[in-house]
Formats: sequence, structure tokens, C-alpha cells
Amino acid sequence: MVIGDDFGFLVSKVSKLSGIDLSKYRESYIKRRIDFRMKIIGVESYSKYCKMLSTNQKELDSLINTITINVTEFMRDKTPFEFFLNKILPQIRDRKIRSNSRLLRVWSAGCSYGEEPYSIAICLSEFFDREWITSIYATDIDDQCLDTAKSGLYKPEQLRNLNEEIKLKYFEKVNGHYRIKDFIKKKVKFKKHDLTTQPPISSFFDAIFCRNVMIYFNEEQKRKVLNDFYRSLSSGGYLIIGKSESLPVEFKNKFKPVDLREKIYLKV
Ligand SMILES: C[S@@+](CC[C@H](N)C(=O)[O-])C[C@H]1O[C@@H](n2cnc3c(N)ncnc32)[C@H](O)[C@@H]1O
Repeated sequence: MVIGDDFGFLVSKVSKLSGIDLSKYRESYIKRRIDFRMKIIGVESYSKYCKMLSTNQKELDSLINTITINVTEFMRDKTPFEFFLNKILPQIRDRKIRSNSRLLRVWSAGCSYGEEPYSIAICLSEFFDREWITSIYATDIDDQCLDTAKSGLYKPEQLRNLNEEIKLKYFEKVNGHYRIKDFIKKKVKFKKHDLTTQPPISSFFDAIFCRNVMIYFNEEQKRKVLNDFYRSLSSGGYLIIGKSESLPVEFKNKFKPVDLREKIYLKV
């Protein structure tokens, strides 16, 4: 980031006030999001916006929300989850059986409001019987997201990719909303975690979902996060990224494509 001009000053101020290091994001992306917020509230200069943010916590929260866009839904894009359920889980199961284990761990990194980790939990519950112990670690940088995720309450439109049978099996209807049932909720542990600055979760995961999160990161941060994922995956573990994302070429020795359309990779 260019420090010293009004924009650079604003960015470092927001980083300080929010505790989120914005230099880890692409500058063009941050600029677009800041310009978007300023347009909405009708502020014309970066210096005025900077002053305003020092005293207006609500606007600071709105800006941070705009930057860490939280768009998500259950079984987002559908086909990667179908592939995970029908092609990846059978392979994980066979590998586990060979090593005499019935334990399976998945990390949803950048889990937003929880739709992704609960979707994974539904896939695991559809595939494995009660003999298996399955758990999902779900992390995000955004406290508001994590609070909603923990409540497990969703508007009907968030479930538009789920059929009626799945809705009935995994949700209760509450005042026109859908609440995820306790037996699925219990499988998911939510925790605040910043992928760009914190060390990875110290566990060995059988799969890591990090979908539509790294698009906001610069190349250096992507590298840090991907090296962390490499370390956190068990051997034979899978990495699933967003459909519009790609891995830098230097990672081709670490992650082998399993399906390039669904953006699913196997740890080498
Ligand atoms: C577009 S959502 C993706 C949600 C979900 N993975 C999906 O594909 O539907 C991006 C999420 O990444 C989170 N995020 C952004 N920067 C992050 C960081 N440095 N560490 C952890 N999470 C981050 C945001 O808060 C947001 O919830």
C-alpha cells in the first residue's frame, strides 16, 4: 500500500482501529470497497472519511463488513459438494479403513455465516454411519459472521440448493426461518482466526475447504495461507478452493489436481 497519501493514511488508520491488517489484501480491491462505502454515505474525500471513522464505530463495522464480503449459501455452487460426497468421501473412507481409523476432520477456512461448514457436516452425515467420529473446524475473521453461524438460524433463500428431504432431515422450521438441528450443529466448532496473520490450526485435516476467500489476498498472503494448508493437511488430504480461483504454479509440487473444474486438489 502507498503510505503517506490520504488513501494510505486511511488504510493504516482502518487497520489500527479494526485490528485487521488491510495491507494483506490487494490494494485495488481495498480501494474499490472503500470507494463503494464512501459513495453510499456521500463522503467525498479519503481524509474526511478517515476523520469520520475515528469517531463512528458503526461506519467502521460497515466498512469492515464490506471488505470481508460474507456472501455464501448452503452447498454453494452445488457440484463441488456433490463431488466431495460422491468421489472424495469414498476415497477418504477407504484410506481410513486401511489405517484402522474412524476419525475424520475437516477445516472450513473463511466459513462466513456457517453455511459452508454445515453443508460439509450434512455431507459427512449423509455418507458415514454412527461408527465414525466426524468433526468440522470452522474459522473466520469476522465476529458477526461467527455469531450468526453459532446460532445456526437461516433465511429460506440460503437453503435454495437443498432439496426438501435434506431440509426436513437437518433443519427445524422456526418462525419462517430454518434452524440447523443440534446433532449437526454439535459437529461444528467455530473459532475466530485470521488466515493471513495467524499460524494455521494445529491439527491434521482430511480436507480443507477454503472457498472464495483467497480472492481477496495478495500473492504473498496466498502463498502463506497455502503453505499453512499444506502443513495442516494429513497425507492424502484434500484442498477445495472456489470455482473462480486458481493455485499459483509454484504449488504444483504440493497440490495435485483431482478435478480442475471443481477445484479440488490432493496434497502431494
Ligand atoms: C465470500 S465469503 C466465503 C464463504 C464461504 N467459504 C463460501 O465460499 O461460501 C469470504 C469469507 O472470508 C472471510 N475472510 C476474509 N478475510 C479473512 C482472513 N484474513 N481470515 C479469515 N477469514 C477471512 C470473510 O470474513 C468472509 O466470511
